[in-house]
This record gives sequence, C-alpha cells and structure tokens, in this order.
Amino acid sequence: MEKFLIRGGAPLEGEIAAGGAKNSALPALAACLLTAEPVTLRRIPRVRDVRTMERLLEHAGAAVEHGEAGVVRVRAEALGTPEAPYDLVKTMRASSLVLGPLLARAGRARVSLPGGCAIGARPINLHIQGLEQLGARIEQTHGYIEATAPDGLRGGPVHFDRITVTGTEDLLMAAVLARGETVLDNAAREPEVSDLAALLIRMGARIQGAGTSTIRIQGVERLAGADHTIIADRIEAGTFLIAGAITGGDLIVGGCQPEHLAALAAGLRQAGCDIREAAPDSLHVRRLGRLRAIDVTTAEYPGFATDLQAQYMALMTQAEGISFVTETIFENRFMHAPELMRMGANIRIEGRQAIVAGPTALSGAQVIASDLRASASLVLAALVARGETIVDRVYHIDRGYERIEEKLSRVGAQIRRVD
Ligand code: EPU
Repeated sequence: MEKFLIRGGAPLEGEIAAGGAKNSALPALAACLLTAEPVTLRRIPRVRDVRTMERLLEHAGAAVEHGEAGVVRVRAEALGTPEAPYDLVKTMRASSLVLGPLLARAGRARVSLPGGCAIGARPINLHIQGLEQLGARIEQTHGYIEATAPDGLRGGPVHFDRITVTGTEDLLMAAVLARGETVLDNAAREPEVSDLAALLIRMGARIQGAGTSTIRIQGVERLAGADHTIIADRIEAGTFLIAGAITGGDLIVGGCQPEHLAALAAGLRQAGCDIREAAPDSLHVRRLGRLRAIDVTTAEYPGFATDLQAQYMALMTQAEGISFVTETIFENRFMHAPELMRMGANIRIEGRQAIVAGPTALSGAQVIASDLRASASLVLAALVARGETIVDRVYHIDRGYERIEEKLSRVGAQIRRVD
C-alpha cells in the first residue's frame, strides 16, 4: 500500500494551484446521463472518485473519453443498464448522484445502497423521499434501491428536512426532465450546487434560484449537449491556505475563487494570518507571528466547511490557547484526532466538540489516514512535525487531491510517495 514519507520543518513558499472541484466534477459527470448528446467537461481533476464516477457512467452505457488535460467528453447515447452496482458504490458514497439522472432519463434505476462510512452513517433517505415526491416508486431489496417512474417524473414541491448537498443535486437532476414545476425548499447553497445548475442551464434546463435555499425548476422534454468548465476546488485551495499558515510560510494559492473561502479566510485572519487577494483567482497567505487559538463550528455553506475541519484542527495544535472545534454536519468526523494525538497533539473529544490545547511540538510518527480529509490533516501536521512522519493508506487522499505530494514539493515540502 502506498505511503507518504514527510519530513517536517520547511516553511512553504511560492505558488501552488488548486485544480477543478472534485465535488463539482462528480455531479457534472452524473448530469451527462441526462442527454443523448455529447457533453464536454473541462478542469476535471484526475482523482480516484472521478474515475469511479466515470466507471459508473460506462456501466450505464455511456462512452467516456479523455481529451487534453482535464477535458472529459461523455456521450450517453442510450442507457443500457440504468444501474449502479455495489462494487462501485461501496467505494464512493457520491455514487447515489446517478439515481436522479438515471430515473429521469430511463424511467428506472437500480442503485446499490452505500452502507457504512468512516465519517458517519450518511443515509440517503432524503434523496429517496424527494424522488417519491416527484412520483417515483421506490423499493429497497437485496441492498439495492429499485426506483421506477414508468410514466415519467412529475414536478412538485420538495422540502428537505435537513440540508443535503448531493440530495439537492440528485433532485435537481431529476427535476429538469420532470413534467411541470418543481420547487426545492431548504436546498443546499454550496457553490457546487450552483455549478451543477450552470451546467444544466447550458444543456437547456430551466432553473432559477440555485445558490439560494429555494430552487425552482421548470421541466423540459429533453436536454442537449454542452461545454462547461467546472469551478475551482475550494477545499483543496483551503487545504493549501492552511498549509501556508501551519508552516509559517508565504504562499500564493492560485486557481481559486476567494469568495468561496470566506469563512476559512476569516478564521485564519483571526488566528493571526494575513490573507489577501493576490489576483481575482488567487489568495496570498502569510503568518504574522504566533498563531492564536480560534474556535470554529462547521456549518452548511456559507459557513465553515466540514471538509476543512480536520485540516483546521491540525492548525490549531500549533496555536496558542484552547480552541473548540465543533462538528455539526457529520457525527463521526474526528477520526484524525487520535492520530494527531499520536504525533503529540493535546486534544480532548467531547461528543461533537474537539478541544485542542496548543501549541504543542509535534513529532513525526507512523499514522493511518481514515478518510480523505483526515489524511489531508495528517499531511499538514507532518509538515511541521519534528522528524519523519509516515502517512499510511494514501489512497484516501488520492480520492480527492490530484498528486498532492508533487504540488507540495514544488513549494518546498519534503514529501514523497513510497510503496
Ligand atoms: N443526510 C441524511 N439523509 C440524507 C442525506 C444526508 O440524513 O438523505 C445527512 C448526512 O448524514 C449528514 C448531513 O445530512 O449528516 C449532510 O450530508 P450531505 O448529504 O450534505 O453530504 P453529502 O452530499 O453526502 C457532500 C460532499 C461531502 C461533504 C458534504 C457536506 C460531495 C460528493 N460530497 O456530501 O464531501 O462533506 O457534502 O458538505 O459533494 C469530501 O469531499 O471529503 C466530502 C465528504
């Protein structure tokens, strides 16, 4: 199994760039199932979850071609098997994103239930309830969701009891081909939802209000092909900002949309960093003296992203004072804390709150990544630890970061991948 060997201590300096957003690429690829015409997607990151989604599309009968860097062309002329098998779904929960488009286009879909997950139960009941509101008949048998809509889906009101990102995206993709109007209420406002809506609109969908909590969709009979460039990965960019801050470096993080990083930038500023726009698509981070402990509570967008919580916790191990890191989105997203403690961090977990006392001198150790963002936090901690850290199970980080070790090496990190 591949590992990272990291030698800590070097401040990161120079320019580093985020790629296209994994969490935009996944729904964008799923949306290609909605039309028989070719769709060209640009700035698609070469990460493992994207490959899994491409395999799901191929399994359903779509042709997937790779062009020049980051370009993917999908043509779903006819859907042979509107199905997402367990073997693929079990490696990526976002596979449920094909449920809405398969049902809307083929009138039926068979999608494996995802099962457990390292960061919490993550059920998809809200996707199912929403699709039922649009007239789908849904049964669960043999670990699969079997959905049918023999006469097509019909628009209607859908209220989400809690905010769900992929649930909103799934329903958006189902509603664009449903008869009549759908109103999604308490919808997710994440930039990735708006990006998906932008792609669907290019394909001929009629959508208003994406980016707000009420999205109105007028169903159309068919969608056409399109050419779309997905947004920058705010979580990758945020991870790099924290890398600059934790190493006391001077880093320009390019390829990002600063407005998508406002909550993190506010936290970093309060913690003692200078963050400013270096260009419309880049942020410059520098640490001004010592770091201060600042509390954060994760929340839906535009709040502090749960996908940056683990990385922020690594930073707080280096800050003076006590910080409370509260996780409100997932019930079990502190798996990185015991690993950080093995490196010398002083963290106490009380329910949904992690209490971090700092600063502590971290020392290199052998640690195991449990999920994608937890691995990123261990890499960040290793960048400031004394001596060498071995981060095991790097495949987790490869799910969402494209060659992170190459990007970090170019700005001065001592990190390499070994077998
Ligand atoms: N939830 C339900 N029922 C549902 C759906 C969600 O109870 O039917 C709960 C979840 O268990 C969770 C909360 O609602 O407690 C929010 O989950 P959400 O559905 O918003 O998460 P998701 O759509 O499965 C996406 C991202 C995650 C990110 C979350 C929250 C994608 C592909 N994934 O997941 O990204 O953490 O939103 O922002 O967009 C990552 O990239 O590392 C990652 C985990």
